[in-house]
Amino acid sequence: MAGKVAAPVRMTVPRVRGRKGEGRLVCVTAYDAPTAALVEAAGVEVILVGDSLGNVVLGYENTLPVTMDEMVHHLRAARRGTRRALLVGDLPFMSYQAGPADALRHAGRFLKEGADAVKLEGGLEVLPMVNAMVAQGIPVMGHVGLTPQRVREYGGYRAQGVTVAAAARIWQAAVALDRAGVFAIVLEAMPASLARRITAAVACPTIGIGAGPDCDGQILVFHDLVGLSPVPPPFARAWADGRRVFAKAVGRFARAVRGRGWPPRGRGAALPPGDLAALDRLIAGEAGRS
Ligand code: KIV
Repeated sequence: MAGKVAAPVRMTVPRVRGRKGEGRLVCVTAYDAPTAALVEAAGVEVILVGDSLGNVVLGYENTLPVTMDEMVHHLRAARRGTRRALLVGDLPFMSYQAGPADALRHAGRFLKEGADAVKLEGGLEVLPMVNAMVAQGIPVMGHVGLTPQRVREYGGYRAQGVTVAAAARIWQAAVALDRAGVFAIVLEAMPASLARRITAAVACPTIGIGAGPDCDGQILVFHDLVGLSPVPPPFARAWADGRRVFAKAVGRFARAVRGRGWPPRGRGAALPPGDLAALDRLIAGEAGRS
């Protein structure tokens, strides 16, 4: 079949479900088209337009101020950069907590704007919203453990499920979300032993972040992964020193400009010598008139 390129496999919700048990699902956040295209080309299968947008891109102290309009703006950009990965839109604080009608309206907006699925944080208290969305065919990703939209209640970001009672509540929440039909669950900042037990108990894939190696997949925030976050969470790992690389490049540009070394002469668009002479005559004529 000379000249024909095989159609790229597009990640779908059933395909994500089918990855249960492998421990190999790769998920990363992205908030714009070039980053989404970059992470997809690097082999990422699920892209989350996370409300971590608030911390890592918009300069907020936490995710609480993030609005639906901000999320939609970035979701649409990420959609334009994504062809094969499953694109998940993260429902921001107070876009679903007030009840199923709100959750449906906002999740529906995400799907209309290009999301393949939505994510929300929480346990038993979000089941009515999950049920309403699943009943309308909106694929939902759950998120238990450290749920950053509760940062005020926690008084800071800290691991969850570190007592028997708390661990049992998280386990029950994950099992209930799975029964309600979520297609995957993020397990954030919890003991690996708890994440392992949840992963064994639920039919859908679990996606860990600070939850040990025994989940069905792993997710990291892009800026943490490439070393662009000034204060990354303790469970993240930077796989590149992005801040140093970028700062060095910008510093070199600044030095080149100040040293009159950029741009080099003779580069870029040019007028042919004859046209240049004509232009000079025109300018001289204009100058003579004024
Ligand atoms: O908002 C986000 O990026 C997230 C991930 C950390 C899972 O929720």
